[in-house]
Order: sequence, then C-alpha cells, then structure tokens
Amino acid sequence: MVRFSILVVVFLLFVASSYADHDVDVQSICKQANDPSFCLVLLKSKPNGVGGDLKSLAQYTLNVLHTNTSNTLTLINKLIAQSGSDPKKQNHYKDCLALFGVEYKGVLGYVLDSLKQFKNSKFNQVGVDMVYLRFHVDDCISGDPSDTSLLPKYGNDVRNIADTTLIMTNMLVRRS
Ligand SMILES: *[C@@H]1O[C@H](CO)[C@@H](O)[C@H](O)[C@H]1NC(C)=O
Repeated sequence: MVRFSILVVVFLLFVASSYADHDVDVQSICKQANDPSFCLVLLKSKPNGVGGDLKSLAQYTLNVLHTNTSNTLTLINKLIAQSGSDPKKQNHYKDCLALFGVEYKGVLGYVLDSLKQFKNSKFNQVGVDMVYLRFHVDDCISGDPSDTSLLPKYGNDVRNIADTTLIMTNMLVRRS
C-alpha cells in the first residue's frame, strides 16, 4: 500500500512537471525582443481560451498580426483618400499600400502565407515570412520620417508582433 502511494506521488509529480514543461516562460521569450515591454503586453493579452504552450501562443500572435495588418491597410486607404491635395504625401501612402498590400509580395501576402505554413508545421518558413515582412514595414515607414499620421505607430506594432512571433517560431524550429 505504501509502495502504491509512492507510485501515485511519483506519477503526479511526473504529470505536473511535464505540464510545466509545456507552459512557456513569457519572460524568457520577451527578453530577446526588440521591444520587450510590447512583447510582454502582447503575450499577456491572450484570452483565457488560448493555451500557454509555445504553439498556441505563436498561433495567437499570428492571428493578432493578421488583424493588425488588415487594420493598417484600412488606415492606408483612408490616408490615400484624405491626401488628394498633397501629391507627395499621397505617393508615400500609395507606396505603403503596395508594400503592405494585397499582392503576394506585400505584408498581407506574407501574413497569409505564414498562417498556411504554420498549419503545416513549417515553422522555419513562418520565420522567413516574418523577416521579409519586417523589411517591407521598414521600407514603408522610412519613406516619410516626418509622417504625423497614425501609420508609423500601426507599422511599428506590426513590426513588433512579427518580431515576437519570430522568436517563438525559432524556438519551435529548434525543438522539432
Ligand atoms: C495592434 O496590436 C496591438 C497589440 O495587440 C494592439 O494593442 C493594437 O491596438 C493593434 N492595433 C491595430 C491598429 O489593430
């Protein structure tokens, strides 16, 4: 009977430690980020229904990335419509529309590709998408350093979400 209880305790300890193993340490991810505090707020914003393991968390940030990219495209279209009297500004926003765009090589194209790659567990490919996507965001934002619209902030958010996702997909690649 004593031996049986010991077995039960050992088993429970084993179960507990393997759960702990699967729950990811948010601090250790975010200290690798370009903007650690953004990363922490992002990862802690996950709804209760989303698991705390690496894969669930990465899927969550990819979904946020998708939403933010769509919102950024909506903003860019609005800015194009509002800047008709200033061709230089309007050209900048049109450049950004192409860079964030609907075409395959735009930010949205990379986001859609990464969602597909993630589903197939091609985490390395998701990481590649994140790297290219960040170049496109930077190209847009650096096109007009004096832009006073919300676009630089939106772009920076997209960049930081991609950065956080990249850290997690690198961890998934190393694990697999
Ligand atoms: C982008 O994502 C961040 C982090 O989740 C959020 O706080 C922000 O409101 C989002 N911005 C847009 C424009 O969707």
